[in-house]
Amino acid sequence: MDQTKIILPESEMPQAWYNIQPDLPAPLAPPLNPGTGQPIGPEDLAPIFPMELIKQEVSMEPWIEIPDDVLRIYKLWRPSPLFRAHRLEEYLGTPARIYYKNESFSPAGSHKPNTAVAQAYYNKQEGVTRIATETGAGQWGSALSLAGALFDLDITVYMVRCSYEQKPYRRMLMEVWGGECFSSPTDKTNAGRAALAKDPDTPGSLGIAISEAVEDAATHDGTKYALGSVLNHVMLHQTINGLETKKQLDLVGEKADVLVGCVGGGSNYAGLFFPFVKDKLDGQDIDIIACEPTACPTLTRAPYRYDFGDTAQLTPLLKMYTLGHSFVPPPIHAGGLRYHGMAPLICLLVSQGVVEPRAFQQPDIFEAAITWARTEGALPAPETAHAIKAGIDEALKCKETGEEKCIVIAYSGHGHFDLAAYDAYLSGEIEDYQLPQEEIDRALAELPEIAEPS
Ligand SMILES: Cc1ncc(COP(=O)(O)O)c(C=O)c1O
Repeated sequence: MDQTKIILPESEMPQAWYNIQPDLPAPLAPPLNPGTGQPIGPEDLAPIFPMELIKQEVSMEPWIEIPDDVLRIYKLWRPSPLFRAHRLEEYLGTPARIYYKNESFSPAGSHKPNTAVAQAYYNKQEGVTRIATETGAGQWGSALSLAGALFDLDITVYMVRCSYEQKPYRRMLMEVWGGECFSSPTDKTNAGRAALAKDPDTPGSLGIAISEAVEDAATHDGTKYALGSVLNHVMLHQTINGLETKKQLDLVGEKADVLVGCVGGGSNYAGLFFPFVKDKLDGQDIDIIACEPTACPTLTRAPYRYDFGDTAQLTPLLKMYTLGHSFVPPPIHAGGLRYHGMAPLICLLVSQGVVEPRAFQQPDIFEAAITWARTEGALPAPETAHAIKAGIDEALKCKETGEEKCIVIAYSGHGHFDLAAYDAYLSGEIEDYQLPQEEIDRALAELPEIAEPS
């Protein structure tokens, strides 16, 4: 059991994505047309998504084959290694065994290419020449720019202003792969101009950037829109991560007791834990813990309601925990976790008690990240640091109780472009922040009144 890296051979890479929809403990509330309040159909999504992705969005097939062209590209970094965090365990003095599934080895540095490559592939198949998207941390914009380079597609990225300013190297990376990247809100779209008129100094938000990208796709020929998280087909593509993890745990004779991951829109963590949900529903004792910042406490403090996925109200209504589509989170460095909503699939599992949400303060997650860097060596993304904090907390609980649990951390990405955030933390500039209830109430007052279909 001294192994540090559990490596799966390429020949063992999963050949199909796992679709959780047939295994859900309750039916998923359908997306609604905001005009009629009725469930939307494929024709409503066709202007902005390729048909194959729309089919995946609603599919009840348990397995969806991964196209050969996508598998071939996955092999550039997959299967990703599962690590045992021996040095962290020793430092903490815990009897727990801590593993982490390391998605930081992809060319873009995170899990995001797992779906970027798949989405680019289906768009290319259907004759699309250009894709517009948003990005928070810059990880998704880089991943889609990479996929655009691999499939010869033009990529336009609306990057949330505070991240654009915090992380110029992410923009440069997108440009190296041929993408173009704008600081959102821009003056190029109605949604952007409206956001600037409301607050010229806005730090931006994923909600605003999504509005800009959707509007761009709807108003340009040959252009579709791609979302890096939240939607069912994105969660689906990410499941390759959890499927590999299961095989890797099997190789060392382990069964997961605790799974921890950070959630922005939910994709990296869904990718890891979805393949374990059926085991939990079938009676296996697994704690599934979803971690978010106290500055954007979607799962821990928001109601479970229908809301728009974007600020300008261009998307269908999704049933999710939501802080309100007009909510602009404070400009914390974990830009990928600054989203007002959450994947409807994850929200359903939270509402059913399958997933436990927890919120963390920024100084605490950076402290955990520094402990990690000084024991395991690698520098995590600030988003990933939320999962690390929860993993350390769980391991310390085991130290108290003497339990020898198997803890698996979703290590979603590296923080090589986040050094300004680490510098701010080490200079004492990052402080605790509790979102005032009035701010949540103000955004929630703008939620659409909708009679839910029975
Ligand atoms: C490294 C990393 N982890 C996590 C996230 C959060 O997104 P999601 O919840 O879709 O995985 C992001 C988003 O940009 C990210 O860059």
